[in-house]
Amino acid sequence: MDYKAYIAQKLNIDGMSTEEVASAIAVPPDSTMGDYALPCFKFAKLMRKSPVMIADALQSDFVCDDVINEVSAVNGYLNFRINKAGLARDVLARIGAEGEKYGSSDMGAGRVICIDYSSINIAKPFHIGHLSTTVLGGALYRIYNFLGYKAVGINHLGDYGTQFGKLISAYKKWGNREEVEKGGIHAINDLYVRFNNEADEAMEAEAREYFRLIENGDKEANELFDWFKSLTLAYVQTIYERLHIRFDSYAGERFYTDKMAPVVEELKEKGLLKESNGAQIVDLEPYGMPPCLILRSDGASLYATRDLAAAIYRKKTYDFYKCLYVVAYQQNLHFKQFFKVLDLMGYAWAKDLVHVAYGMVSLEDGSMSTRKGKVVWLEDVLTRCVEKARAILEEKNPALENKDKVAEIVGVGAVMFGALYNNKIKDITFSYDKALNFDGETSVYVQYTCARAASVLAKAQAEGVAFANAPAGEPCEEEFALLKALADFPDTVREAAEKYEPSFIARYAVDCAKLFNKFYFDCKIMQAEPAVREFRLAITRATLTTLTNALTLLGIGVPEKM
Ligand code: ARG
Repeated sequence: MDYKAYIAQKLNIDGMSTEEVASAIAVPPDSTMGDYALPCFKFAKLMRKSPVMIADALQSDFVCDDVINEVSAVNGYLNFRINKAGLARDVLARIGAEGEKYGSSDMGAGRVICIDYSSINIAKPFHIGHLSTTVLGGALYRIYNFLGYKAVGINHLGDYGTQFGKLISAYKKWGNREEVEKGGIHAINDLYVRFNNEADEAMEAEAREYFRLIENGDKEANELFDWFKSLTLAYVQTIYERLHIRFDSYAGERFYTDKMAPVVEELKEKGLLKESNGAQIVDLEPYGMPPCLILRSDGASLYATRDLAAAIYRKKTYDFYKCLYVVAYQQNLHFKQFFKVLDLMGYAWAKDLVHVAYGMVSLEDGSMSTRKGKVVWLEDVLTRCVEKARAILEEKNPALENKDKVAEIVGVGAVMFGALYNNKIKDITFSYDKALNFDGETSVYVQYTCARAASVLAKAQAEGVAFANAPAGEPCEEEFALLKALADFPDTVREAAEKYEPSFIARYAVDCAKLFNKFYFDCKIMQAEPAVREFRLAITRATLTTLTNALTLLGIGVPEKM
């Protein structure tokens, strides 16, 4: 039941759409005032009356019913009290019927959302700096699919550039096949780091030559490049599996090699290309930005050139409704620039490109450093967190079965939740201890709450207490607060998509878990008299379903026992 829409419809205010009125209705911070409130000053201009008079008039016209039990006008606010038993009945029935689909919708039917995320660089470490783009993008991918959109996950691989010439040069000098085969991405990265530390001018020249050879389709150079690429992808795949991340396309920068010339041509035709010190640029000074570099003076393309070609290709291929780029805020200017260039080229869809920017993640112990070779690999963070989770589980619940499996779910979830809990633009410092706190605002807390709910349900089943068809009772305060939160889940998912903020769902999960725990401790479940016990079991099951759906959308697993 969408109460806001229901109230708005009943109010039927002249000159305002139901949607407008519904969006003006809020949940008062203090529930003693009511469950919903409409601030009437918003209509003062339209109705040419004072908010107090409007509230009084709306109140006297409002006829209460089975859904809205009470309405009062206080200081220009119209407060509504809903039928609590009705809400309980509604929400429990809905969650029971929809199960793992609860919170989903078909609002996005027929619309494609491209999401460019993770977008790692070939032969470079998959490090802690990639955590946010990977898990935020993965969450958005699931959220949009859940809302009926067709999400297309794109890993815009960084597989183009002179660094691959350097890598070949380093491999030829210091590497051997066996070692690289064995060491994989780490061995490749070591070679690259060594080049940056030790290469002399002769090697630099050689590297440029190798890059040229790759570009010109030289067989050996391309075989080496493809080998490095496949080793990198095989490695990141293992991490993506642990994070429950998937992609529909790995079309990276190289994929656009033959798609850039037409774009450059088009820019020229549209009179947008200018020469500047031998380079080709698009002047963005009128828009308060430095120029967008299209071709270097030696004719080489740039990062922006490939992004222009990629955006045009994606529009043609997917006809997206929106195309999201989940990339750190350090690249704000880059996105503003190439979005503007597409706009100047006359593409109306340039307004559908969205840079979903996020802040930095650093580690509490030994912050991330990009100095040569000194990066924190994401894999190491995951391993360490899983080990710590394993130790905590061992201590808290020595009899737990499948400890390794549970530790993997808990540990990996904790790292992911670390990047998902705060507003995405914030810089965050990851702390293993905080992330694994059973009583904190953590995934562990939510997972533990789920395990608690599951164990209550298991107990009921063991004792043969059936509750599937339990009639909803008149909820007490704790029950009502929880039920109302459960009813808010679909709205939360929708808002998370609208604002590109998976953190809304993460916060929701923590808040809802808190309400469940208050309910669990203040209301006896199994010891209550039969009718109340069954109602409470139904609430418990609905909570487990909703929290599981929330964590699943974030890509985080839910162990049955903890
Ligand atoms: N590979 C790039 C980097 O590591 C990120 C690419 C983001 N996507 C894009 N279309 N520019 O900085």
